[in-house]
Amino acid sequence: MAKVLVVATSKGGTGKTTIAVSLAGHWREAGKRVALYDTDPNMALTRWCGKGEALSELTIRSDPDEHSVVGTVGELGSEADYVIIDTAGFGNQAMVYAVGMADLVLIPVMTDEASLFEAIKMKKIIESARGLTRRPIPFRTVLNRIKRAAVVRHTERQLENLDLNPLQARIHDRSVFQEASYHGATPNELGARSRATLEIRSVARELEPAFADD
Ligand SMILES: Nc1ncnc2c1ncn2[C@@H]1O[C@H](COP(=O)(O)OP(=O)(O)OP(=O)(O)O)[C@@H](O)[C@H]1O
Ligand SMILES: [Mg+2]
Repeated sequence: MAKVLVVATSKGGTGKTTIAVSLAGHWREAGKRVALYDTDPNMALTRWCGKGEALSELTIRSDPDEHSVVGTVGELGSEADYVIIDTAGFGNQAMVYAVGMADLVLIPVMTDEASLFEAIKMKKIIESARGLTRRPIPFRTVLNRIKRAAVVRHTERQLENLDLNPLQARIHDRSVFQEASYHGATPNELGARSRATLEIRSVARELEPAFADD
């Protein structure tokens, strides 16, 4: 069965779609079968993947009916090693269903108070989903768009103190992520040895052992 990764936080613009696409590119490059599922009605992921060659070869689903999330994840999971689910930046029902199906939730966090606040909310949603489904749903936070070291250290300490499970890997603010979105590409297509590619690889490597084994 596929490993289901849900990238989620109700804070908009923290990098969910960017990280979902980048991880898809990483695992595809590593020879894995990857399915992407866009549950955001804004469909940024679907537009991104529709522009590129490599990404359009992946299985991509978007579905405006939030109540079909559970069935769609089951379908995608039967023919993939990884199902990566992108969610909306405003916490909707589809996100809650997706979290209920997750083997791991990744919460992107930027170095500001609002991001942290929404990460705490996400943790509560995941805890509720654990109660409903009676199974483990591990989660990790990842710092994205980082710039200055002092504020990064402060945010990281907060994440640790709040038991928000920060990854050691972090993603810097790099224009290649934005370029990739225009080209419909992944960072590793634009530069296999670029720092962005290496950062995404570090994120993936830290996530791989964190998936819950049912
Ligand atoms: N590491 C990064 N470096 C530079 N720009 C980034 C990075 N991550 C994301 N961005 C940019 O930040 C903006 C928001 O990113 P993205 O769309 O991935 O966030 P999101 O969480 O999916 O947003 P939404 O909540 O609207 O779905 C985009 O312009 C994207 O190009
Ligand atoms: Mg998005």
